[in-house]
Amino acid sequence: MTDTAPPVRLGLACTGWIADWAIHRPIRDGSPAVVAFAASRDAARARRYARAWSVPAAGGWADLLARDDVDAVYLATPNATHLPLALDAVRAGKHVLCEKPLGRDPALVAALLAEARRRRVIVREAFHYRAHPAVAAALAAVRDGAVGAVRRIDVRFGWRLERPGDIRLSAALDGGAVMDVGCYGVDLVRHLTAAPVEVTGARAEIGRTGVDLTGVVALRSGPVRARLWASLRAAGPVCAARVTGSRGTLGLRAPFLPVLPGGAAPVRRFAARWSPRAGAPDPVPGSDTSYRYQLDAFARDVAAGRWEADDGITDRARALAQVRARITGER
Ligand SMILES: NC(=O)c1ccc[n+]([C@@H]2O[C@H](COP(=O)([O-])OP(=O)(O)OC[C@H]3O[C@@H](n4cnc5c(N)ncnc54)[C@H](OP(=O)(O)O)[C@@H]3O)[C@@H](O)[C@H]2O)c1
Repeated sequence: MTDTAPPVRLGLACTGWIADWAIHRPIRDGSPAVVAFAASRDAARARRYARAWSVPAAGGWADLLARDDVDAVYLATPNATHLPLALDAVRAGKHVLCEKPLGRDPALVAALLAEARRRRVIVREAFHYRAHPAVAAALAAVRDGAVGAVRRIDVRFGWRLERPGDIRLSAALDGGAVMDVGCYGVDLVRHLTAAPVEVTGARAEIGRTGVDLTGVVALRSGPVRARLWASLRAAGPVCAARVTGSRGTLGLRAPFLPVLPGGAAPVRRFAARWSPRAGAPDPVPGSDTSYRYQLDAFARDVAAGRWEADDGITDRARALAQVRARITGER
């Protein structure tokens, strides 16, 4: 985006908490975007939200899609609603920044991407961590061979969910640990291998509401084997990954939470540890949140009309569908 390009006008399809981090704070800090509209299933709630967040207009989902002053939609609704809402938005000619995971229906994802290609709009799944320069540099170095040929990837991501009515505990809304946090590991593997990901094993502890509270997933992507552990029942926050290659290893602390490199909670302090250290790339600093970098990149790409091919969305959805089939026995 050039300095003279107008800011991207966003419509929010949610009144939940994550838009504060993903949208409002980055805009306050200078991201080239504005919030033009807030939508909710309940128009009165949308208006209350709009008043509280100084959003100029509010209403229902259909009102949002009909707006000419909205370029792009930020979707942070429950997982099961992402694909249908994203398809509505794309058909209305809006770009989409959709919270992770976009979904676990590869056929619908393919239809969505085909429609987006036809209309030249961007559909991006909000794996914000990859937008952070410190993380991006470490991952790029791995892809460039810093640990040799990658053989194995181990990922652990979990936290303790205490809110009884949370959307993550709803089977109907596609909750569960693998959808909530396991999807990051699927994304990391797909990003590092740039190849389809196949689920070779999965087991889970299923809770009373029918969702996986903890899941363990085995993956294969080309010659790479991976193991993911995802949990909503961890004793405390856990976020780590290890990439083992033919010539060394990379240990990543807080790879998916590089919110602030110097952040207060240890789990939010991203660090890359290379072994052997000789030949490791220099660390790249990043002084903003990963959400800020994500919104900057999205706004720039929308302003520039930079349409992108599927960056692995379909592979991720297929892998999540395979996990689901294995842990529920559904096909
Ligand atoms: N990138 C990240 O770091 C990050 C962090 C947290 C969450 N997320 C993702 O963001 C999404 C939302 O998570 P959240 O924690 O923000 O959820 P939340 O606080 O429960 O908010 C969900 C929002 O969805 C709307 N909604 C639409 N249909 C709904 C339904 N059937 N049931 C409940 N709410 C519905 C609700 O707005 P109305 O009631 O006003 O319609 C609500 O504002 C999830 O996909 C999650 O994976 C990402």
